[in-house]
Amino acid sequence: FFSTTCNMIPVKNLTEAQALDAADGVIDGKFYGQAIQGLGPNGQPLGQGPGSQAPGSKPAAPGWTPPSSSAPTSVPPSAPPSAPPKTFSAGAGAGGGGVVNDAPGLPQWSGSNVRPLEASMVSELRKFNITEAAQSSVTNAVKLLNDLGEAWQNDYAIIFSKQSHTWWMLAREGAVLDLNSAVEAHKKITPGSAKSNATKDKKSKEERKKFPLEKRLCQGIVGQRGAIASTSQQIRRKENGWHSTDHPLVFLFLGSSGIGKTELAKQIAKYVHEDDKDGFIRLDMSEYQSQHEVSKFIGAPPGYQGYDDGGQLTKKLKRCPGAVVLFDEVEKAHPDILTCLLATFDEGRLTDGKGETIECCDATFVMTSNLAQKEIADEAVRVRAKLSKAGQTETETAREIISPEYAQKVIMPILKGHFKRDEFLGRINEILFFLPFTEEQKMHLANREIDKWSKIAKKRHNMEIQWSTDVEEFVVKAYDPRFGVRSIQHEVGRQVVSRLAAAHEEDKIGEGDTIILGIRENEVVLRMGAKKS
Ligand SMILES: Nc1ncnc2c1ncn2[C@@H]1O[C@H](COP(=O)(O)OP(=O)(O)OP(=O)(O)O)[C@@H](O)[C@H]1O
Ligand SMILES: [Mg+2]
Repeated sequence: FFSTTCNMIPVKNLTEAQALDAADGVIDGKFYGQAIQGLGPNGQPLGQGPGSQAPGSKPAAPGWTPPSSSAPTSVPPSAPPSAPPKTFSAGAGAGGGGVVNDAPGLPQWSGSNVRPLEASMVSELRKFNITEAAQSSVTNAVKLLNDLGEAWQNDYAIIFSKQSHTWWMLAREGAVLDLNSAVEAHKKITPGSAKSNATKDKKSKEERKKFPLEKRLCQGIVGQRGAIASTSQQIRRKENGWHSTDHPLVFLFLGSSGIGKTELAKQIAKYVHEDDKDGFIRLDMSEYQSQHEVSKFIGAPPGYQGYDDGGQLTKKLKRCPGAVVLFDEVEKAHPDILTCLLATFDEGRLTDGKGETIECCDATFVMTSNLAQKEIADEAVRVRAKLSKAGQTETETAREIISPEYAQKVIMPILKGHFKRDEFLGRINEILFFLPFTEEQKMHLANREIDKWSKIAKKRHNMEIQWSTDVEEFVVKAYDPRFGVRSIQHEVGRQVVSRLAAAHEEDKIGEGDTIILGIRENEVVLRMGAKKS
């Protein structure tokens, strides 16, 4: 499905060389290209003026052509001599230079959908001046246009002439031609926005420094220090510009159920995107087990059912291309989905059924799987026992528990056997192991769960809940490795919360009460503490 959409190009993060290789058309406000051929004055291809290239040949140095004299800083009364004249004829069926629109569902000239480059489009083009306005390069122009935000969509467009391999920028009559000035003017219209962003950036940077990522993550997640340390390191590298911008960040979280894989992904999203709900995308890959579900994933191609719905992933990624994307139970996905993911991880872009390309180099992809969970858990128990004998449990690190040798020898073959594709595993930045909890960690988890409910009791009902460690020990007994922390949550719910709720319903406890939890005859009992005056 990628090959069918090769005439679409994203402009963001585009180098000129890439653009020239891939380009095929108009790039509109949504930053995508569309195939046009032979669009130019009087049927001539664009850029056929003096100084431009012969059709079909590439310019020696890619960039805005013609590289004429000095770039205009204001709208010239007529088009510059080297640029095509203001009016031109082009359009589907126009003799000598037809417009090819071979990718249905292309983006609109302005706005969110596509109108093919036909008569209506051409009349739209006439509202624009053709200009050589970009002073340096298409990349730079695009960057400036991006700075203009949504505002540029109505006033500017970029055209690539396939025949002359020439980029042109179109500016609507009256629009400022010098992009630097346009950006400046735009900033003035939206006062404070840049400044407040800067202040916010600075503030959050300071906050982040004071409260490092690891510390935040450890607050929300018990244990899993190895996974926390590795993800934090990668995220921080990305935050500070020490990462590759060619690929998105890709993690594979391995481990049994209910031990924090999803939770860690959520916490990362919270850190990266704060309260932006679109910043976290979660897809259950067990819903994509058959081939026909690929279209549910990236959207159906034109003419197919569900075309208008868009894909689950692409739709959401479009809203936030830098999102943290969680693919749960990735081992269940159909191999075609994996192919799709591989390309995404590799190129940092994803093309949907409509042929629109989404740049996602900025995204963080987290896949989770229960593959090799037994091998990970068994090894952890074995190594911990060994460490404990040597009196070293306090200093355990994940690397010590699941050694690189063990990972290579035992775990990788399981992954390879399942995914069957080395290149898929090769595109993962980090494979992280989530370890079973130690007894101490289980106690900590029980404490946190009871504490969570005591806070709720305080807030909602003004009740004080107290308990001793024997209650925590009692809860921990119900720990079931098949369900992980969920078994603790369930036991606290059953033994503590429902008892409190029942007592409250029967008016045995109420506002201002202190309730002490204890254990008698193998169950949790409630006792009234001294009433606060
Ligand atoms: N290490 C942990 N520390 C604190 N809470 C945890 C931890 N692990 C899991 N939880 C809690 O348990 C619940 C389930 O955890 P989570 O969804 O992260 O499990 P998971 O590892 O993704 O499991 P699955 O493989 O079943 O998807 C969540 O409410 C989560 O907050
Ligand atoms: Mg999960």
